[in-house]
Amino acid sequence: MARTRRPLIAGNWKMNGLTSDALALAKDVAAGVSQAGWTDRELLVCPPATLVMAVAGAVKGSGLMVGGQNCHAKASGAHTGDISAEMLKDAGASHVIVGHSERRSDCGETDAIVRAKAEAAWRAGLTPIVCIGETLAEREGGKTLAVLETQLKGSVPAGSAAAKLVVAYEPVWAIGTGKTPTIAEVAAAHAHIRKVLGGLMSDAEGVRLLYGGSVKGSNAAELLTAGDVDGALVGGASLNAAEFLAIAKAV
Ligand code: PGA
Repeated sequence: MARTRRPLIAGNWKMNGLTSDALALAKDVAAGVSQAGWTDRELLVCPPATLVMAVAGAVKGSGLMVGGQNCHAKASGAHTGDISAEMLKDAGASHVIVGHSERRSDCGETDAIVRAKAEAAWRAGLTPIVCIGETLAEREGGKTLAVLETQLKGSVPAGSAAAKLVVAYEPVWAIGTGKTPTIAEVAAAHAHIRKVLGGLMSDAEGVRLLYGGSVKGSNAAELLTAGDVDGALVGGASLNAAEFLAIAKAV
């Protein structure tokens, strides 16, 4: 079936990578992207902030894009230890992940904070990848679709347009666990996300919806061809170039 939206395969390296290994990984992924010459899909890697500039330099010209994993809502100021969307842009990023569940739980990020970060991304000229997803207790309590709806309404800024928004559906219980929802569960979540987006913006049909949570080469073909899935946000498997490229090939 022909896709109407160009798939995006995004690697979230999380807090992993020292210079030499990270650059080797980035170069291997970039070589795979150049060699494949894909025009029908996009690949992105999101290294730790310390490596964004070096990775962006190392992959320049390959077609592989680079993103940040988080940003502050403000452009500059007295926020020790934080980095702004403008700094990521300056370092060579095109995207930034906002509202990842690890930041929602580790750092207490609320929907309002996530929305402010998405707005900051736009201000800097970056595309935000807004993450949402239910916990195991929420799924078992039958609350998945309601939770996704609340998170979307709180985290997606007014004035969103498909060209400057990516949404990632990541069930918290599937992240780093090797567990994945069924294809029917992924399809139901994505259909609901697109329906809710339809009430928030005029071109929701064009927004790319990524699935994330234990995606790997061996399950990518099945997960990424579920209804309304436009790519993946990949954690652990993005730390291996061959595995990450295999996921990209499977779309
Ligand atoms: P995982 O992580 O692929 O290791 O499950 C996904 C994510 O947290 O983005």
